[in-house]
Amino acid sequence: MNADYALQHLIDPEVCIRCNTCESTCPIGAVTHDARNYVVDFARCNACNACIPPCPTGAIDHWQTVRRSTPYTLDDQLGWDSLPTPVEVETAAAADIPDEVRRLTAAASAGVAGSASAPWSAASPCVNLFAPSDPAIARVTGNYRLTAGDASADIRHIVLDFGSTAFPVLEGQSIGIVPPGSDESGRPHYVRLYSIASPRDGERPGYNNVALTVKRVGVDHDGRPVAGTASNYLCNLAIGDEVQVVGPYGASYLMPNHPRSSLMMICTGTGSAPMRAMTERRRRRRALNEGGELLLFFGARVEHELPYFGPLMKLPKDFIDVNFAYSRVPRQPKVYVQDRIRERAATVARLLADDDCYIYVCGLKGMEAGVIDAFRDVCVAHRLEWDSLQSTLVAKGRLHIETY
Ligand code: A2P
Repeated sequence: MNADYALQHLIDPEVCIRCNTCESTCPIGAVTHDARNYVVDFARCNACNACIPPCPTGAIDHWQTVRRSTPYTLDDQLGWDSLPTPVEVETAAAADIPDEVRRLTAAASAGVAGSASAPWSAASPCVNLFAPSDPAIARVTGNYRLTAGDASADIRHIVLDFGSTAFPVLEGQSIGIVPPGSDESGRPHYVRLYSIASPRDGERPGYNNVALTVKRVGVDHDGRPVAGTASNYLCNLAIGDEVQVVGPYGASYLMPNHPRSSLMMICTGTGSAPMRAMTERRRRRRALNEGGELLLFFGARVEHELPYFGPLMKLPKDFIDVNFAYSRVPRQPKVYVQDRIRERAATVARLLADDDCYIYVCGLKGMEAGVIDAFRDVCVAHRLEWDSLQSTLVAKGRLHIETY
């Protein structure tokens, strides 16, 4: 083995859409970012590959042979607009890359490491049809406020029409929006990812359009006032405006297609987008009598902050079992989705144990642990064992979590 050389894990800044998936997946904190780039720390990365399968674009899956003494530093990588041309290394040295690193890298490229799988009956998704260097152009055909005028959150339902450009999507997939213009340093804004809120046959059936659920961002993660670049751009769009769209992305957060498959959906706020897409898909196919249950847990501050409240209330009770959780109703105790899950323990336990039920969680990062704890409690009360069940759910593509 030639210890002078190593494979360095790199992220392609031209393809990366800065969705943070890699950083949040990396178990050892080897991925980091600044306002521009996501980068991998050579000194920390152990090529465990946990970050490779979840990356929606494949930008994460790049490896270059480097001298161990002079790898690309974090500062090098943070300054890149594109990947550098690989440095030529002596053939003998390249051949001496440790076998273990070769094996791991090959596995990474094949996308096999701990990948969350799609439901067995999910349709095959198209991914990465349009890259930031060559985006699709869509036209705005709708921009409606979903939350009440006096609600603190401005959440909008935005419809984008692709005209004659093929942009096939499935429920649960995301698209990337490229805000026009550039940042303070003069570089183009990077892509922001939004879950599609419409079913595969279009927001309007048979039309080549998609809907998004977008919340106008007015504060940063620390609560300081800031106008979110992409969300404000989208929320201010007028009918007829052109939008640059990339993607679609996502190959595992997909719905099952087989008859009698059930959906358990748990969301907060704009995390309702994929739930709306899946619910609408099922609603449009209701006449086919394919069966299967829909169980929804939906959390919001108050009723008038809940996107799609009106349409949800109109859906027949024998079609979807809706459980709202409100956290800020005056003089009422705070209720979270996980509280409602515990209240519905018998139904939740039955569906957790049902091989034909698929579970989707989308919304605030904080609810993820709360929902898992609630599942654990439900299992304890119903003679199920959560830890082994969770592994089974993931292995069978039955548990899908997307939080931010
Ligand atoms: P809260 O009133 O405590 O913030 P938002 O409106 O900010 O998008 O949040 C949507 C809903 O999710 C709100 O009801 C919010 O409650 C709730 N929420 C916040 N944190 C959690 C959590 N850790 N688990 C479940 N729900 C949460």
